[in-house]
Amino acid sequence: MKKEYQKLREFLKSSEWVNKEQLETPKDEGLDRPSAVKSYDKKSEIIELPSPKDVQLDMDSIKKILTKRKSRRSYNKEELTIQEVSYLLWATQGLRKDNIRLRTVPSGGAVHPFETYLSLNRVENLKKGIYRYLPDIHSLLFVKAVDDIKKKITKAANGQKFVGKAAVVFLWTVLPERGEWKYDILAHKLAALDAGHIAQNLYLSVESIGAGTCAVDAYNQKAADELLEVNGEDEFVMYMAPVGKIGE
Ligand SMILES: Cc1cc2nc3c(=O)[nH]c(=O)nc-3n(C[C@H](O)[C@H](O)[C@H](O)COP(=O)(O)O)c2cc1C
Repeated sequence: MKKEYQKLREFLKSSEWVNKEQLETPKDEGLDRPSAVKSYDKKSEIIELPSPKDVQLDMDSIKKILTKRKSRRSYNKEELTIQEVSYLLWATQGLRKDNIRLRTVPSGGAVHPFETYLSLNRVENLKKGIYRYLPDIHSLLFVKAVDDIKKKITKAANGQKFVGKAAVVFLWTVLPERGEWKYDILAHKLAALDAGHIAQNLYLSVESIGAGTCAVDAYNQKAADELLEVNGEDEFVMYMAPVGKIGE
């Protein structure tokens, strides 16, 4: 076995390989738990989203959705509606109760280390640009307008052209401190596991509205972080997924 693999293989194993007695976490030191949602300037442009329950579904049988799910890299030119975007955000990071730690996706230790950004190209009544989801108030925070959004997001996706053709691209950043507070060096495997649940909920929910997605890990870290204006250390992109309508 290559020596480089050894530590990485250990990382994938049960967390019992770590002697937890040796860990000194910020929690042990009595520091406050980081919030599960990034703060924002209340004076920013905030777009209240319609209730996710108002969405019109094409398909609501889980059996049919599971059978249909696949990675889709071809999208038509249709816009997504704001109801559809609301539904997809709720399905991936929304709250299922009035509690920021109880969401539609599970998260180890209810840490919820992610923020969701949208690189928005074709959504009815919304200008092109970067937005951030605010799950606590089920709203979108307008981050910035981007004219050449297709070009920028394609670059962020390492040149994968189908990403630039999507109506909207979901980008999930991780804020590792949220997990490190409690789990120290165990936090990172948990974050990687959590990310899969989020993308899978997107895969399933898009199928139910006649849209498609494709998980993307082969992205350009620097270009993606710069597009979202995150610092690449305390917060950085970990996963992305373009979404667009499918069919004629
Ligand atoms: C973690 C992960 C990363 C992926 N990254 C990419 C990617 O960067 N580009 C791409 O075209 N597909 C990507 N895919 C999609 C896979 O290629 C796809 O899931 C696989 O070929 C199986 O096809 P299916 O999803 O249709 O069943 C990724 C999938 C996963 C789960």
